[in-house]
Amino acid sequence: MQKDFSYLLPQVTELCHETGKWIAQARQTFSPQDIEVKEKNSLVSYVDRTAEEKLTETLYKLLPEAGFLAEEGTTIKNNAELQWIIDPLDGTTNFIHNLPVYAISIGLEYEGKTVLGVVYDIPHDEMYYAAQGKGAFCNREKIRVSATTEISDALIATGFPYSAFGYMKQYLKVFEPFMMQSRGIRRLGSAALDLCYLAKGRFQGFFEYNLSPWDVAGGVIIIQEAGGILSTFDGKENYVHGRSIVGACTHELHTKMLEILSLW
Ligand code: IPD
Ligand code: CA
Ligand code: CA
Repeated sequence: MQKDFSYLLPQVTELCHETGKWIAQARQTFSPQDIEVKEKNSLVSYVDRTAEEKLTETLYKLLPEAGFLAEEGTTIKNNAELQWIIDPLDGTTNFIHNLPVYAISIGLEYEGKTVLGVVYDIPHDEMYYAAQGKGAFCNREKIRVSATTEISDALIATGFPYSAFGYMKQYLKVFEPFMMQSRGIRRLGSAALDLCYLAKGRFQGFFEYNLSPWDVAGGVIIIQEAGGILSTFDGKENYVHGRSIVGACTHELHTKMLEILSLW
């Protein structure tokens, strides 16, 4: 049954704003000693963990029946039917290097569908949000994807590995046509922002392999509500949990991207 969770948007955006302010302050005093290495090139710090605590504490109060799937492991409650999917800091490597491309990403999933999403682009103070059937917004202004139908008119965002290189052949196979046919490929280092920038018309396409649910759960509904098209690399709907995602501003462009990704 469809349920309206849009009443939560003012509180969740306010929470992201406050937590984002705290992250920006932490950046000012951040030092290399604060970096911890999870595994090769997978970095984290107290900032990711503290931000997650702040977010989950308030979200729990807002909707006590909801469970959590959060990157830094918060398990206040499990509830697969209704759950918050959280990345407290998407773009951690950028944050650590003081490259201003990082965000908070929060999605609310109900009966397997993302029904609410908030992504806060902290350095640019851009708050992206959407709820099912209510449109997508950036700082209170309605946003919409571009009308581009050709890869030759598209700027394409992607991400690629920095630690596990088992799929190198597949990456190279698909990069060649995208490099040769598009206006260019960008690798910003924050999947949540790649999705929001597609929703806002800055990018026309996005694809990435091996993302986790918390990288995309906030952004996918913002794309859908902005009129974009999403699937897995093989055209299926399981793009939040399915580990491959392709997004495009139009059906035509999406089909052309899937053709290239069939080489994967
Ligand atoms: C990463 C970013 C990046 C993507 C990686 C993610 P993190 O998230 O979204 O763009 O390519 O696969 O892990 O580690 O910065 O939260
Ligand atoms: Ca992430
Ligand atoms: Ca993260």
